[in-house]
Amino acid sequence: MDELDVLLRNERYPRSARYSARWMIDGAMGPNPVWQAEALAAVLPLEPGMRVLDLGCGTALSSIFLAKEYGVEVWATDLWVKPDENLRRVVEAQVEDKVHPIYAEAHALPFADDFFDAAVSIGAYHYFGTDDLYLGYFSRFVKRGGRIGIVQPGLAEEYETLPPPHLEPYWSWDFCAWHSAEWWRRHWEKTGLVTVDHADRLPDGWRDWLQWNEACDQDSGTPGQEAEMLRIDAGSTLGFTRVTAQRTS
Ligand SMILES: C[S@@+](CC[C@H](N)C(=O)[O-])C[C@H]1O[C@@H](n2cnc3c(N)ncnc32)[C@H](O)[C@@H]1O
Repeated sequence: MDELDVLLRNERYPRSARYSARWMIDGAMGPNPVWQAEALAAVLPLEPGMRVLDLGCGTALSSIFLAKEYGVEVWATDLWVKPDENLRRVVEAQVEDKVHPIYAEAHALPFADDFFDAAVSIGAYHYFGTDDLYLGYFSRFVKRGGRIGIVQPGLAEEYETLPPPHLEPYWSWDFCAWHSAEWWRRHWEKTGLVTVDHADRLPDGWRDWLQWNEACDQDSGTPGQEAEMLRIDAGSTLGFTRVTAQRTS
């Protein structure tokens, strides 16, 4: 086991431990999507053969992980990362029969209504899903009774003013899209299109996030502001929000 693998050892994610830290860090676009995917799958049952949309999959690490670990077929859909690049990773991971890289914008998805058994989004849904009307579009690609699940950076609660004073030196304006689990519950339930069955702060999510950033910083040799922000906050405000819902019939 090399030094990076030791830095990313995390007993909360036993399935993720089977994947090399180098593979995860080289594909990183945000806090470890493989851990986040495992955390989501813990509350969103996935069965072999299910058709899963992974929207905003980035470098498709979460898609590859879900296909390998749960035997699902994944449409790895992203805007910033082109599908030929993701196809290379998919072939290297030997899951080209299970993971299909797709280039699409979240508002122009090239899928049939009711096609998927489940739709997930990891570290990405807050880029497009805070619009009140987006769930109505997104959910139609999932069969009635199918599941939708997201995990992404979030806040412990909704604050009257942002940023909380202790985070002021680190705050970027687009963190305004980070919301609490209860915010997402209400955001989805008010549509009447889904029943939210799980909405929480990932237990120890801030520790995972900090551990991830510290490993990435050590690997790059550059101490990052984000790790400092997470250390100072110590989980009082920042973490991961995890929400799952079922499309109503
Ligand atoms: C921070 S990256 C996270 C990627 C990956 N899920 C991960 O956790 O490493 C956010 C991803 O959201 C995707 N994204 C943002 N806006 C999008 C949009 N309008 N349509 C499709 N994908 C979008 C980007 O392409 C990007 O890969």
